[in-house]
Amino acid sequence: MSCFSTVVITGASSGFGAAFALRTAEYLRRTFGEQKHRFVLIARSEDKLQSLATELSNRYGYEVDVLPCDLADGAARTTLLKNLANLRSEWMMLINNAGLGDYGEFCSSEPERNRRMIEVNMTALVELTRAMLPAMQEAHQAYVLNVASLAAELAIPDFAMYAASKVFVTSFSEALRIELAHTPVHVTAVCPGPSHTGFGDVARRTGKSKKEVPFRKWFYTSVDCVVDSGLKAVLRNKPRCYPSLKIRLAAFLVRNTPLCLLRLVMSSRPRRAVPAE
Ligand SMILES: NC(=O)c1ccc[n+]([C@@H]2O[C@H](COP(=O)([O-])OP(=O)(O)OC[C@H]3O[C@@H](n4cnc5c(N)ncnc54)[C@H](OP(=O)(O)O)[C@@H]3O)[C@@H](O)[C@H]2O)c1
Repeated sequence: MSCFSTVVITGASSGFGAAFALRTAEYLRRTFGEQKHRFVLIARSEDKLQSLATELSNRYGYEVDVLPCDLADGAARTTLLKNLANLRSEWMMLINNAGLGDYGEFCSSEPERNRRMIEVNMTALVELTRAMLPAMQEAHQAYVLNVASLAAELAIPDFAMYAASKVFVTSFSEALRIELAHTPVHVTAVCPGPSHTGFGDVARRTGKSKKEVPFRKWFYTSVDCVVDSGLKAVLRNKPRCYPSLKIRLAAFLVRNTPLCLLRLVMSSRPRRAVPAE
């Protein structure tokens, strides 16, 4: 049976992704009442996706497809893309949210982890968007919400690959948005600052302490704020969204600071006492 709307979310097993699923479900119920909707949940952790699926179907009666997939695996993505390319609905939303980081100097980074970051943060986002766009262009309304980061505003030593991958996400989103301006597809990049999700634990290298840069705490934004702001922005066809006033302010300051000054600030960051092994 065909559904009025289809929502595809990557990285739906935890953090922002799971919250996006629940918030979008509420929005659809509020906006379209008892219409039938389909959710497609993607991540590696099948058990977590299943429990979210159960919640969505019990609470709202929505159809939910759980598609476990390692987005860093090209062959697994090929199978996934075939499934996604067949989806058709009047109202469609793709939330490219899956992502990972790596705290530490690039010279001591693991090449395999770097490859996975490239594949998940950039390649999968591009491939999923490309696979779904033909159907999205035929829909009555369609939305692509790409989860970037405040880190996209600035080259960040000890977070170099991650920040660069998010520059890709914002640049790609801006260009795609212009290309699709005369279609029903709205494209938005949401750029959160730090939030309490599973992200930090995944990004922390083995054996490294949880100690944080002191001023980082000030930037923390709640998951609810990130998800609500992101959804609001894409539904209102805004190009970019910085959840919370402090993150907007931080982005504004970085963007309006001369590059030579930013280089000076970043070079004087606190260095680790122990050299990279
Ligand atoms: N939290 C922050 O401070 C922060 C700030 C700015 C931007 N972001 C961005 O927000 C997005 C969501 O992250 P989060 O904060 O919610 O962190 P999270 O709790 O660690 O969630 C990351 C999600 O990505 C999925 N994922 C990771 N690697 C994957 C792979 N190889 N294949 C498929 N799915 C994969 C994870 O699922 P499985 O492990 O089950 O596969 C999980 O659902 C990311 O793009 C991140 O860069 C986070």
